[in-house]
Amino acid sequence: MPKKMSVGIYLEEVPDIQHALTDSRESGFNTICCELLTKKYSLNELSGEEQNCEEPFGWFDMALPSADWNSSVVGVLSDVQEQTESHIFNVRTRASQLLEKQMGYAHHLGLPATILNLHPGDSCNLSRLIYSKVTTDGGYHSNVVVWMRLPMVHSKQTVNGAIDVGREESDDIQPISSWNTWNTFRTVGYAERRTFPVLDLPVDLPDQDEIDRWLGEPVKAIFISEESFISNQKGFPVLPKRTQHVIRSFFDIGAQVIMICKPEKSPNHYVHHKQYIEYIYGLYTSEWEEDPVRKYTKGYEDYLQSPLQPLMDNLEANTYEVFERDPTKYNLYQKAMAKALVFKIPEDQKDTKTLVVMVVGAGRGPLIRNCLAAADSVQRRIKIYAVEKNINAVCTLLHLKKHVWGDAVTVISCDMREWHPKEKADIIVSELLGSFGDNELSPECLDGAQTFLKGS
Ligand SMILES: C[S@@+](CC[C@H](N)C(=O)[O-])C[C@H]1O[C@@H](n2cnc3c(N)ncnc32)[C@H](O)[C@@H]1O
Repeated sequence: MPKKMSVGIYLEEVPDIQHALTDSRESGFNTICCELLTKKYSLNELSGEEQNCEEPFGWFDMALPSADWNSSVVGVLSDVQEQTESHIFNVRTRASQLLEKQMGYAHHLGLPATILNLHPGDSCNLSRLIYSKVTTDGGYHSNVVVWMRLPMVHSKQTVNGAIDVGREESDDIQPISSWNTWNTFRTVGYAERRTFPVLDLPVDLPDQDEIDRWLGEPVKAIFISEESFISNQKGFPVLPKRTQHVIRSFFDIGAQVIMICKPEKSPNHYVHHKQYIEYIYGLYTSEWEEDPVRKYTKGYEDYLQSPLQPLMDNLEANTYEVFERDPTKYNLYQKAMAKALVFKIPEDQKDTKTLVVMVVGAGRGPLIRNCLAAADSVQRRIKIYAVEKNINAVCTLLHLKKHVWGDAVTVISCDMREWHPKEKADIIVSELLGSFGDNELSPECLDGAQTFLKGS
């Protein structure tokens, strides 16, 4: 979820930037998105027409104080992909110059971000240009951020590459993934932390798989058009249930909302805008069930972690606490344990047979909890040895034994490589895989522990 919710508005035409910002703020929007350079200038530049040197090519920078430029205006860059990918050298050069000029002006104004459309098809040169212009080390454009705007859903493309949105799907039209378009673009030249995807939310939402793919990307904003809203019984604009759910999942990854509203001439447009904004703030602030995996991984997205070395070091309480929040891992351990118990103790022996389970590297006991819960769920009996070499975690295990587990668990404060158990195990449970499968030295530790098993 973004720390502070921001709702922006996308404005097609802005005759007066000062007025547009004041007007939008009165409606409740925090940001406006509008074209950075004049249309005429951009078109002339792309087509090679002579420019009128007396005409200002962009906004009057003194129209707004820097604080407003820096926080409240997102500059829309001219659509140049067709030209940057052209086979004609001069066309490509002019597009590159225009891009350069726009980014230079965005830098001059200190805009927090710029928006550039990304279309299906070739984008290699565009990607290269953006990369080179936003990553110039310590250079001129190095603080410009570019949001690449594309639709969230598949568009349809004919085999020869022409985009065809209106036609029915047929043999010569294959769906292409919008995510693939982004992926190709960023694979060529990914200016990490300078280029981000921003998505148009379609009225007909794509499959959840497609949405999930996007949720793995650093999506900065979702464009919502008025058409996505429906009226409730009282006549207020609301979003369909699934759309609400999708938007909330994008809030979870820090995306903001930008509304695309029809150009309103009526004095009533404030009322409409306020209704949309209030609804979106309501969505943002209302309680909802956050995805447990996302909750657990929050703050660790896209960062390489230096691997832990729990054999050499004693892990601290807060480190245990972080990985104990992983719901998937522990659920799967518990399921596996339940299956193993049913496999090893037939139904007719469930009241007479007790299995010996050793949890080696028990930490603060989550796997012990899972083993006990699994045994409970399938009504099988077990006796657990919890082996742990970190004396501080052993203290936790002893607390849990005293207050929760009782005689079902025996705590062994020892390095498993030095332990000589008095009885053998039916099942050994461990979780020493670590980030790279070997940085916790699991082979070195578990190889010796195999001898604890019955029959070894
Ligand atoms: C990644 S943690 C997992 C802890 C716990 N099983 C869990 O899932 O939360 C690995 C644990 O194994 C312990 N450990 C590592 N090597 C060990 C060894 N040779 N003998 C006993 N414990 C060991 C560490 O101290 C640490 O508590």
